[in-house]
Amino acid sequence: MEDSIKMPRHVAVIMDGNGRWAKKNGVSRLTGHNQGMLAMKEIIKKADMMGIKYLTVYAFSTENWKRSQEEVGGIFNLLVKFVGSELAELDANNVKVHILGEYREKVPEAAIASIEKAIKTTADNDGLQFNIALNYGSRAEITKAVKTLCRKVEEGELKASEVTEDMVSRQLYTGDENGNIPDPDLIIRTSGEERLSNFLLWQAAYSEFAFTDTLWPDFTPEEFESLIEEFSTRGRRFGGR
Ligand code: FPP
Repeated sequence: MEDSIKMPRHVAVIMDGNGRWAKKNGVSRLTGHNQGMLAMKEIIKKADMMGIKYLTVYAFSTENWKRSQEEVGGIFNLLVKFVGSELAELDANNVKVHILGEYREKVPEAAIASIEKAIKTTADNDGLQFNIALNYGSRAEITKAVKTLCRKVEEGELKASEVTEDMVSRQLYTGDENGNIPDPDLIIRTSGEERLSNFLLWQAAYSEFAFTDTLWPDFTPEEFESLIEEFSTRGRRFGGR
């Protein structure tokens, strides 16, 4: 097994700290999310320039529904705004937009329409794959995979004793039918929190982590690059020696 990897193929980001940034700057939480969206736009460009193949962002979790209706609505409005202003450029840059999560459930119609437009427009692109985790929860994802496999067992297509890790992987949002996205090499979380918060639990089995105190709206392409450089010096053995 190779001892180190120069460039991560897949970087996943937990964009945390928009609310604290808003408080610190005396503005509304939604203004914080808007600044977060601007930061995200710059990171997509940087990841693309650096030749990263997959960039995944945690935009809205299954737990985020607990927030006020105003904040939830505002985040989805931002998504609509993001697609409206960025889709042409993303497409021109050969970026492929992909969603991880149950984006057709509970999500406002306008946001679903924007997402579907972005997916359709960029479907044939083969540059950076930009995955937006939306109405995403890792436990829900794994539970769904288990249910699908159980159904196959019930229907006699499969024996329980034949279930493999690979079969579980293939049923996840990142699995075969969903673009076969490799596990993240590096997971970045901003704002000083150091936990996964129900993000890519299965896929993160061998991921490296990078934590920074920077609040997401203040996170810059330069810091992104320096975290990637730091990652590239780490030795990864995947449980081997
Ligand atoms: C976490 O900060 C951030 C979110 C729950 C939303 C992330 C959304 C964006 C960056 C907006 C744009 C995204 C798209 C896809 C258009 P927090 O609110 O939990 O911050 P806090 O912990 O400081 O309160």
